[in-house]
Amino acid sequence: MRFIIHEVVFMIPVISIISSSARTGRNSHRAALYFQSYITEHKLANCEILDLKSYQFPIFDERLRLQKNPSPAMLEFAEKVKNSDGIIIVTPEYNGGYPASLKNAVDLLYEEWHRKPIAFVTASDGDFGGTQVITSLQFSLWKIRALTVPAMFPIPRVQETFDENGVAADKAKTDKRADHFLAELLWWIKAKRRMDS
Ligand SMILES: Cc1cc2nc3c(=O)[nH]c(=O)nc-3n(C[C@H](O)[C@H](O)[C@H](O)COP(=O)(O)O)c2cc1C
Repeated sequence: MRFIIHEVVFMIPVISIISSSARTGRNSHRAALYFQSYITEHKLANCEILDLKSYQFPIFDERLRLQKNPSPAMLEFAEKVKNSDGIIIVTPEYNGGYPASLKNAVDLLYEEWHRKPIAFVTASDGDFGGTQVITSLQFSLWKIRALTVPAMFPIPRVQETFDENGVAADKAKTDKRADHFLAELLWWIKAKRRMDS
């Protein structure tokens, strides 16, 4: 499938959404479901959720590339990140930082992150939308040479913003914000493709 942005023929990209919360009764996963639906319905990308709660990776003991017998789940996760043109990380804020499940997954991989366009969706149950996560998460990904893009999507009161299926309470407002956010990520995906070609 192909579509045209700014008169450049652009093969439809692959965007993976990393849903980071492994918490029982989690709410930020609702945002992952919302973005998957939005991206798919608007035919912006081929999109799937990489759910860290489902993967249940063990606590980090070595980088994947140095493991002798990596699990099939780790290999699958690495392959999906590698084959993605862009990544959306959906993360809650826990005590001012991002969850251990996400750090576990970031440290597991290496080259798969290099120059990978990544945009952040942060969530909290309070007023500030998990934005304190950004500093530490962006720094870790910068250290590993990912291409963190200047787009963020903070979600205050995530449990009221989306229902459990990821349907937005205020669809028009949420879709408008999502459109701006995704346009930025897609711009960086396109820019990287040009440089790589
Ligand atoms: C261990 C823990 C620490 C938290 N720390 C913060 C925090 O620093 N700031 C905040 O706004 N919310 C905090 N919260 C509330 C979360 O924002 C809220 O639980 C949100 O729904 C988290 O996403 P989740 O439901 O997907 O896990 C914390 C929650 C947990 C479980």
